[in-house]
Amino acid sequence: MKDKHRVAILGFGVVGGGVADLIINNRAELCSYLGCEVEIAHILDLRDFPESPLSHLVTHDFGDILSDESVDTVIEVMGGEHPAYEYSSAALAAGKSVITSNKEVVALHGDEFIRLAAQAGVSYRFEAAVGGGIPVIAPLLSSVRQNKIREVRGILNGTTNYILTRMFNDGVDLSTALKDAQARGYAEANPAADIEGIDAARKITILTALATDVLPSVDEVYTEGITGIREADVRLARKIGHEIKLVGRCIAGEAGLPTVCVAPFLIPGDSPLATVSGVYNAVEVIAEPLGNVMFYGQGAGAGATASAVVGDLIPIISTGGVNPIAAGFNRVSESVRPNFDRLKSRFYLAFDGADEKIASALGEVIENGGEIAVLTEKIAEADMQQRLSTLGAKPLSVIRFI
Ligand code: HSE
Repeated sequence: MKDKHRVAILGFGVVGGGVADLIINNRAELCSYLGCEVEIAHILDLRDFPESPLSHLVTHDFGDILSDESVDTVIEVMGGEHPAYEYSSAALAAGKSVITSNKEVVALHGDEFIRLAAQAGVSYRFEAAVGGGIPVIAPLLSSVRQNKIREVRGILNGTTNYILTRMFNDGVDLSTALKDAQARGYAEANPAADIEGIDAARKITILTALATDVLPSVDEVYTEGITGIREADVRLARKIGHEIKLVGRCIAGEAGLPTVCVAPFLIPGDSPLATVSGVYNAVEVIAEPLGNVMFYGQGAGAGATASAVVGDLIPIISTGGVNPIAAGFNRVSESVRPNFDRLKSRFYLAFDGADEKIASALGEVIENGGEIAVLTEKIAEADMQQRLSTLGAKPLSVIRFI
């Protein structure tokens, strides 16, 4: 084993800064555990950082990193598809391992990069792409796959969970809570990806590949964010002892493609996922004969994400770089969307007080501060849509029970 492992960090934002801090502040721990020193060779960013003690490592030219043969691992924490895709691809082809927290790139190109890394005899690892600091990808692959996995579901976006917690607990509105989440470094550069559920959709796509060997297209995942959640919905949830959480679900079928979706769900207040609040994330796996296990921890932010990123160095260094993720990651051209249309759920529907007749035709009716809340029996997604259309119903909210 070499006495130094040299890394280049692509992106010196919240996560990149956290990675550099961890490598420097925990030098002694890394050295004693890994048996070698981790050294930052370059930092790529568009900006200069004249005040940073690492300013001498900053380059604006990826070519400096690619041509430096002493760089063992490229840590891509820039976010966004481009140029992260091109840089990761070039680094792997040049025989450098790549670690990333970039869920967009993993969801879109993970299959290609896993193959490329295997061909080049290096690693492509992405523990930080799902669940921030939670160790979930490695344990899922090394300790769970011997089971029949029935469902993987989780709170996969720290920003939206933080926002929902502030809405539920403090009565804060969505835009105020989002600004706060942005100030804390939780949100994406474009926070629409958080609040519209896209970030969670990318993450459930990755978990689906790890759990079922099928990598669906993110565009085919039914995706609904939290922008439609109203104060009356929060009130209703509380009234019936539930919480509303943005949940990504992958339900494995007996055969064929899984059902994959992201949406706000009503969760019984005493279930483990309901207790996950603030920036915390959790991934619950339901498997046989294992039963239920839940991975829990901070889902966004510099320190937690840096922990997962730097953790990926451990298998790379201990195996001399050759450490392919043994996951299926088989991209399917077939759409997973029809499976969602068959998913059976109970629904909460909200109606204006004047729509009592329509409401009572759909299920149990509850008065909710001037609105009518309807709680339905279990019904398939497509059948629910059909019933609403036949009745000419225009609900103010539609939220499923998990
Ligand atoms: N914006 C993401 C979140 C960052 O809030 O979960 C971590 O992936």
